[in-house]
Amino acid sequence: MTDDTETSQTSLYEHSAYYKGIIKRSLRYLDTGYPLHFTGPSGIGKTTLALHIAKQRKRPVMLINGNKDLSTEDFIGAFTGYKRRKLKDNYVRSVHKIEENVTESWSDGRLLEAVKKGYTLVYDEFTRSKPEINNIFLPILEEKILPLYGTKQKRSFIKVHPDFSVIFTSNPVEYAGVYKTQDALLDRMVTLTLGSLEKEAEITAVINKTEIEREKAQAIVEFMMKIRKLCHTSQDFQGPSLRASIMIAELAKRYDIPINGSNEEFNQLCFDITWFPLQACMEDKHKQRAKRQLVQECKKITLG
Ligand SMILES: Nc1ncnc2c1ncn2[C@@H]1O[C@H](COP(=O)(O)OP(=O)(O)O)[C@@H](O)[C@H]1O
Ligand SMILES: [Mg+2]
Repeated sequence: MTDDTETSQTSLYEHSAYYKGIIKRSLRYLDTGYPLHFTGPSGIGKTTLALHIAKQRKRPVMLINGNKDLSTEDFIGAFTGYKRRKLKDNYVRSVHKIEENVTESWSDGRLLEAVKKGYTLVYDEFTRSKPEINNIFLPILEEKILPLYGTKQKRSFIKVHPDFSVIFTSNPVEYAGVYKTQDALLDRMVTLTLGSLEKEAEITAVINKTEIEREKAQAIVEFMMKIRKLCHTSQDFQGPSLRASIMIAELAKRYDIPINGSNEEFNQLCFDITWFPLQACMEDKHKQRAKRQLVQECKKITLG
């Protein structure tokens, strides 16, 4: 992450009462020893917020991305093979002796390292990992220990460093099927739901991220808000996100495309960025109509 990005994100967080409140409360929960969990649709700003809050704690930050291949070895560690020692015979140059049987070498997994050294861990999209892998967090959060059984380590557990804390993120859409098995874990964290940004906050985020003029950012965000209303709330997906607004702003700026519905390139850009997430938030029978509405709304945009 560049310094520029950091400054621009900070500015939204500082100027929005909503975010200031979330950040203040989040730091309190973490300081009191409770893990934090941000949940909400994709593109709402969970990862960015989690990393921002993590950095406020003045401890090293470790980021782990949940995925189905994440294993106990990744978390705790593994033997990486034998330590080989090469001996060079100084008298006979061509002789190299390799000692094979010295010690097995162990390398700490990322979670073990964070727990031991008291890092702030951001475990992004944790529900994408296998539930049984995530069970390791139960003793960490409850007993403040990380069990090492099954690892051939001398100690059977290590104590969690008092400064260790975790911020989880997840997308409720991805709970399907795994929610129940992660109940015990969810019960031990403070979960904050991030909803859609207020209009002003989204405009600020777009400006901060892309440095586009205010009136352009406003036109894009107002368009996006109309488009999102076409979504059917019974569906899991919430339509084009903040990310979509940022994409339109970034491309329009980079290729000098006017934010104007009479411009063909702009119409195409609007459509390319928003149609896929929009159609995902409705049933097939509504799609043709929504597509026409999307095109119409885009054509209505005029600046100046
Ligand atoms: N406070 C902010 N200010 C500016 N841009 C932001 C802010 N929060 C998020 N973004 C941008 O919005 C997009 C989505 O944010 P991200 O944190 O990845 O969302 P999520 O993790 O919920 O999918 C990213 O491009 C990110 O840089
Ligand atoms: Mg994310």
